[in-house]
Order: sequence, then C-alpha cells, then structure tokens
Amino acid sequence: MLSAEAENDLHATPASLRVAVLGAGKMGGILLQAFLHSGLFTKSQIVATVAHEERAEALGKQFGVTVTTDNLAAASEADVILLGVKPQQMTDVVGSIAPALKPGSAVHPGTLLISFAASVKTSSIEQAAGPGVAVIRAMPNTPAKLGVGVTALCRGAHVTDEQLALAQRIFDTVGRTVIVDEKHMDAVTGLSGSGPAFLYIIIEALAEAGVNVGLPRDTATLLAAQTTFGAAKMVLETGAHPALLKDEVTTPAGCTVDGILELEEGGLRVTLIKAVKRATQRSRELANP
Ligand SMILES: NC(=O)c1ccc[n+]([C@@H]2O[C@H](COP(=O)([O-])OP(=O)(O)OC[C@H]3O[C@@H](n4cnc5c(N)ncnc54)[C@H](OP(=O)(O)O)[C@@H]3O)[C@@H](O)[C@H]2O)c1
Repeated sequence: MLSAEAENDLHATPASLRVAVLGAGKMGGILLQAFLHSGLFTKSQIVATVAHEERAEALGKQFGVTVTTDNLAAASEADVILLGVKPQQMTDVVGSIAPALKPGSAVHPGTLLISFAASVKTSSIEQAAGPGVAVIRAMPNTPAKLGVGVTALCRGAHVTDEQLALAQRIFDTVGRTVIVDEKHMDAVTGLSGSGPAFLYIIIEALAEAGVNVGLPRDTATLLAAQTTFGAAKMVLETGAHPALLKDEVTTPAGCTVDGILELEEGGLRVTLIKAVKRATQRSRELANP
C-alpha cells in the first residue's frame, strides 16, 4: 500500500516515491545516472536489480544505490517499477514479481510498471502482472546517454493521467518525450529507435566527402557532426518546416542547389523513407513472431 505521502507524489513531485529498476543494464544504467544527476530521485529512493551478483556489487558501488539480484524483494519496496530486462525475459520477470504488484483503485493509484523493452506490448505485461496493474511502455533511444534522447510513451489499460505525467517526468531526465498510441510504437522504433544509426551513416558519409574534397579527417568529422546537430537544433527551436530552412540555404544558381540535385538523383530521400519503413516492419515482425 502506498503511503499517503507517496500517493500525493504520484500527483505532484516524486520526492518520496520508491523506484525500482529491474534489469539495470545499459539503458537502465543510463536512467539511474540521469535520475541521480537531475535530482528527480535521490539514492535512498532507488533500488535496482541485475542478473549477476558481481554486476550488482559493481553497480551498487558505481551509483551508491542498493543493487541486488532479487526482483521480488525490490518490487515489494517500490511504487514505480522500471523494467529493463531483454524482451524475451519480460513476461517471466513480471510474472515473478506479480505478488508484489498492486492494482490501482479509487483511493490509491497502485504500482506503476514502466517497461522500456522493445517490442513487448502493454497487454502482455498486463497479463503477467495481474488484473488492474498500471503499465506504461517506453521506447527511448541511445542519445539518452547524453540527455538528448527522445522517448515515446504509450499507456496501457489501467494508467491514470497522473501516472502518464510521472512517466513523462522520468524520461524527460534523458531528453524529450512524446506520447503516442501503442499502435505507433513500431513506427517510433523504426524512426527514433533506429534513427541514430541512420544518422551516424549520414555523418560518416559527409565526413568521408569532406576528406574527398581535401579536408583533414578530424576536421571533416567535426564539420559534419556539428552541421547535423545545428540543423536539428534549427528545426527544433525555430519550429520552421525543414523545407523552408533548406530553401534559406539554397541560393539561386548557387552551390547548395547543385548538391541537392545530386541527392535527389541518388535517391537519398526515398532511401531514408524506405529504411524507416523497413525497420518499422521488422519491429512489427519481432512483436508478432
Ligand atoms: N540499449 C538501447 O539502446 C535500448 C533502447 C531502447 C530500448 N532498449 C531495451 O532495454 C532493454 C535492455 O537493453 P540493454 O541494451 O540495456 O541490455 P543489457 O545491457 O543487456 O541490460 C539487461 C540487464 O538485465 C539484467 N538481467 C537479465 N536477466 C535479469 C533478471 N532475471 N532479473 C533482473 N535483471 C536481469 C542484466 O543483468 P547482468 O548485467 O547481470 O547480466 C542486464 O543488466 C531491452 O529490453 C531493450 O529492448 C534498449
């Protein structure tokens, strides 16, 4: 049962919530670090679990939080449980903590489960968790490591608006968040989940081009990466349509328009669209084997 203080926190600030991260691997570790760094949760509010004792010890030392291999004990202490195990382990792990999970009711919101495993549907987690348990699914991406990720959230059947807002605050510690319907989670996986890999290839290719036209490699890489970053920031901060921003760089009979002609002839636009479509399709296949 949540304390009165913790109940209030689900609706306001999360100062006395107890948080468990089950499966504190790469992504779980990024979140732990961000919680502590942002001050959203303090060390004493957090417990985490991993599979191996030696990893638990190392992680405990690294973050100064309690890390064990006992999921049920960690879940029993928690108001909010982040699930970071591999997709194929998810239903077993949730089934094993089900006795510790509380459904929401008119008087208290119950345990909030937030899974960030790719391709695992809220309905599968709800089924393993038991009747009435609130489940949110999150899809973060790797730039979360530097606090510039983007996470899509979708709600399961029993989630309150306050719980969704809390999940948003949790993932805001590693970048931006968007809320989507669950039917769009495969598309999110194909665009922002896989997207960093597509953009690294573009940056690598631009740097290679710089070398090709005579620039030293480190200078070319810096120019390519900072230009990509700057263009993204322009889109995000001006709110202008990317086509309009592109037009601003493209003077009549200038250099850029010649380059754009090459891009169109090489099919960059259609290739990127096909890459996102293909990654989305693969995510759908993995979710429905
Ligand atoms: N990495 C990403 O970019 C990314 C992005 C979006 C979503 N995700 C999702 O995040 C999840 C984790 O991915 P990851 O890259 O962080 O993998 P990872 O580094 O392998 O982390 C998995 C963690 O789960 C722990 N674990 C395994 N079995 C467990 C159990 N029964 N109970 C408790 N902990 C257990 C492992 O412990 P040990 O360390 O002791 O082996 C490990 O720390 C996946 O579901 C993935 O789909 C990842």
